[in-house]
Amino acid sequence: MNIILLGPPGAGKGTQARVLVEERGMVQLSTGDMLREAKDSGTEMGRVVADVMARGALVTDEIVIGLIREKLATVKANGFIFDGFPRTLAQADALGELLEAEGQTLDKVVEMRVDDTALVARITARSTCGMCGEVYNDETKPIPADGKCTNCGGTEFKRRADDNEDSLRTRLMEYYKQTSPLIGYYYAKDMLSRVDGLGTIDAVQAEIRTALDA
Ligand code: AP5
Ligand code: MG
Repeated sequence: MNIILLGPPGAGKGTQARVLVEERGMVQLSTGDMLREAKDSGTEMGRVVADVMARGALVTDEIVIGLIREKLATVKANGFIFDGFPRTLAQADALGELLEAEGQTLDKVVEMRVDDTALVARITARSTCGMCGEVYNDETKPIPADGKCTNCGGTEFKRRADDNEDSLRTRLMEYYKQTSPLIGYYYAKDMLSRVDGLGTIDAVQAEIRTALDA
C-alpha cells in the first residue's frame, strides 16, 4: 500500500510516518529529510536549496520530483509513505505518472488537520535526535531526563533552521497557496481520508490506522 500523509508544517506527518514504518514495515519518503541530508552533506543541490528552505519557501518541482523518481526506481518496499510530497499540483501529477511507470498505485491520502495556533506551538518546541531522527517536543514529548534518545540512545539533538516564527509564516502561506488544493484533487479521485491531527500522538495514530484499514 502506498500512501500520502498530507498536512501543514507541524501537523505530525513525520511523527506518524515513523510509527507506520515501525508497525507496518513501510518506507518513509520525506522530501524534507532528503533535502536536509543534501544540505548537510554539502552537495551542489544542498547549497542551492539551503536558503530556500531556511526561508520556508518551496524548492523547485524539478528538484523534488527528481529525488522521488530516483527513490522509486531504486528502493524496494512493502509500501511507501510520502511525507511532505507532493506539495504542488505538478508534483501530484508527476507522482501519479512515476508510480504508474513502476507498475504501482497510490492507495490512500490521509489529510491531517491541525489548527494554525497549535502548529506554531508545535514547531517552535520541536527537536529531533541527531542520530536516528526521532522527533521530540519540549511540551508534549520531551527529551528524557537522562538526555538519551528513547529510540537509539543518541545524545545529540537538533533544531531545524526553519523552525522559527518567520519561516513558519512563509511555510504556512505556501501550504495554503500551493499544497491545500491537493485536498480537493485527491478528494475528486476518491482517495482522501481526513483525521483530526489535534489529538494525542496515539489518538492520531489510531485514526490513521482506521483510515488505512477501511
Ligand atoms: P518538511 O521537512 O516536509 O517540513 P514541513 O512540511 O514544514 O513539515 P514538518 O516536518 O515541519 O512537520 P511534520 O508534519 O513532519 O510534523 P512533526 O511530526 O515533525 O519540509 C521542509 C522544507 O523543505 C519545506 O519548507 C521546503 O522548503 C522543502 N520541501 C520539502 N518537500 C518539498 C516539496 N515536496 N516541494 C518543495 N519543497 C519541499 O511534528 C511537529 C512537532 O509536533 C514535533 O515536536 C512533534 O513531537 C509534535 N507533535 C506531533 N504530533 C503531535 C501530536 N499529536 N500532539 C502533540 N504534539 C505532536
Ligand atoms: Mg516532517
